[in-house]
Amino acid sequence: MSKRTIFLTTALPYANGNFHMGHIVEYIQADIWVRHQRMGDNTVHFVGADDAHGAPIMISAQKLGISPEAFVKKISEGRKQYLDGFYIKFDHWHSTDSKENTELSCEIYHRLKDAGLIYTKDIEQFYDPEKKMFLADRFIKGKCPKCGAEDQYGDSCEVCGAVYAPTELIEPYSALSGAKPELRKSTHYFFKLSDPKCVEFLRDWTKGVAADGSLRLQPQIIAKTEEWLGKDGDLSDWDISRDAPYFGIEIPDAPGKYFYVWLDAPIGYLASLKAYCELKGINFQALLETSTTEQIHIIGKDIAYFHTLFWPAMLQFSGKPFKTPDHVWCHGFLTVYNRKMSKSRGTGLDPIAYLNLGMDPEWLRYYLAYKLNSKVEDIDFNPEDFIQRANTDLVGKYVNIASRSAGFILKRFDGKVDADAITDSDLVSDVKSFSNAIRDFYEAREYNKAMRKVMELADKVNEYVDSQKPWELAKSEENRAKLHAVCSIVLEAFRLLTLYLKPVLPRTASQVEDFLGCCDLNWETVQNSLNAETHIKPFKHLMTRATPDQLTQLFELSNPANKAKAEEKAKEAVSDENKDEFVFEPLQPNITFDDFAKLDLRVAKIVNCTKVEKSKKLLQLTVDVGEGKTRNIFSGIANFYKPEDLIGKLTVIVANLEPRKMMGQFSEGMLLSASDGSEKTSGLYLLNPDCGAKPGMRLH
Ligand code: 2FM
Ligand code: ZN
Repeated sequence: MSKRTIFLTTALPYANGNFHMGHIVEYIQADIWVRHQRMGDNTVHFVGADDAHGAPIMISAQKLGISPEAFVKKISEGRKQYLDGFYIKFDHWHSTDSKENTELSCEIYHRLKDAGLIYTKDIEQFYDPEKKMFLADRFIKGKCPKCGAEDQYGDSCEVCGAVYAPTELIEPYSALSGAKPELRKSTHYFFKLSDPKCVEFLRDWTKGVAADGSLRLQPQIIAKTEEWLGKDGDLSDWDISRDAPYFGIEIPDAPGKYFYVWLDAPIGYLASLKAYCELKGINFQALLETSTTEQIHIIGKDIAYFHTLFWPAMLQFSGKPFKTPDHVWCHGFLTVYNRKMSKSRGTGLDPIAYLNLGMDPEWLRYYLAYKLNSKVEDIDFNPEDFIQRANTDLVGKYVNIASRSAGFILKRFDGKVDADAITDSDLVSDVKSFSNAIRDFYEAREYNKAMRKVMELADKVNEYVDSQKPWELAKSEENRAKLHAVCSIVLEAFRLLTLYLKPVLPRTASQVEDFLGCCDLNWETVQNSLNAETHIKPFKHLMTRATPDQLTQLFELSNPANKAKAEEKAKEAVSDENKDEFVFEPLQPNITFDDFAKLDLRVAKIVNCTKVEKSKKLLQLTVDVGEGKTRNIFSGIANFYKPEDLIGKLTVIVANLEPRKMMGQFSEGMLLSASDGSEKTSGLYLLNPDCGAKPGMRLH
């Protein structure tokens, strides 16, 4: 099968607050699919960004007395701890408030204008007489004109999904002041979605199939688009401009007019990809223009209208290199006890509280996978069920298999397996025979089916252990060969189950890869086995059990009324992290200032980084310290960093260390890193200067 290249995104979160559990749920779904693709050796460019523009962000910043730029920067700095915490591995995280997005938005706007799809019109718009400003859609509320639901925002209805103009709302009021808004005139820019060529294109596109023959959209979403398109295709045109004051991208040649945030938000997908391509030396234009590149967006069902009508139409009529999405996959919302999450009702789930409580991110990843399918259905979080899944499935069924076999192999057989017993085993063949089915379930985003199958197989393996009773066999020397065979078979089955769970449990899979010495579990290596070369290592405990107390605390700490307690937990979590096997090295004798001044420390930008053939420890870096030329540096960090994760980063080097010949070349400087002298156990950490530092700046 030829290898695929996929450009995948999740919806861009507004940069007006930290991630909530809904974001994490969406990212985990996407991350599982990405990891599955990579296990099949497909290339995925998985990118995200902050959706930085719009009036709400501008108003939040104003309230804090800071610029919107400073406001979104602060939010974006907080993203990493969530993403790393839940093992969500975007290749790149960008912002819609960026050079790339401004350029792309202006380009797409010009193309749409050239295609005759942009026009201006004077409209009457709501103005808040108390706040003295035109009101953004989000600041006008009223009854939905389509279904009559109360308290809906001015742009779309959360109940029926309809999208409309704020002036269509019934009994509108300003959400900022509560005042009755006045209508005032202003010139606005429109995208002509009602143009027959748009309607005709969308009728076709929404019902169409992607290159692989599968439907572009889920049946439920197709039905929605049919409803929106109606019999006569009477789509409303889309108001794409907003008046100053607005935090956004100024419309070319239209001073005081800005693109409505929803115009430049999806273009942010492309902007993030472009910035990522620039970092990686990939040709952005060529990547998009290649007919086999797939473009897929994973989003919540509430923003389907924007992604299945406006966005494909914008792309279609902008022309090459832009392409319409191959798929837009919508998911439902996360509920708790089958009701909308509510912090005040005590059913909020704060992702950071989850992590600070030391709850295992893989419990959540597995729990979600266990519940998710490809339909547009809500996923319910039920705490009792959550504990059950973590403890019964993951610890009781899966991890337990390793505990029941690896100990004997290590202690009695010097870490070696009986390869022949594995080859001849019916159990192993049985477990192996489901690899394609499980792989297909992942492919189709039927994760729940994949998880059920894996647990069924884990049951079979446990039944085998129960029937063979290795603990009994171990009692007598004459059963030594049988004990060896049984434990080898069980361990190989464990290898396969780990492979099947790898997209969901990346940390555990990596620990297992390490202790089994089979360093890359993927869809090709299903066919391999533990064999005569295998030498398993002692392994650390793989997973702990979840407790009801943790769940109680999670709901408690997710309630804003318990903010102080939550902050206390966060501090504890940080100090626990630092406690982790860290050994304080004795301080060095004092030096004079002159001694220090001899040391020339500089901010360096890592422009390239590669592995070093013949060395397990070294990475080779090309760094820029602002001298007008780059430097070559070898650094012993290969066990801690992947080259691709370092490219583009800023760090600190000793710039006046005598060049040293290594691997036949000069190393022209030394990277600074933090460790306690025993990197093996406590790790090694490069330094990151704060935002704003430039390559070449000296450390004083
Ligand atoms: O609904 C939201 O949270 C939007 N910020 C999603 C934007 S998705 C894309 F268009 F950028
Ligand atoms: Zn409605």
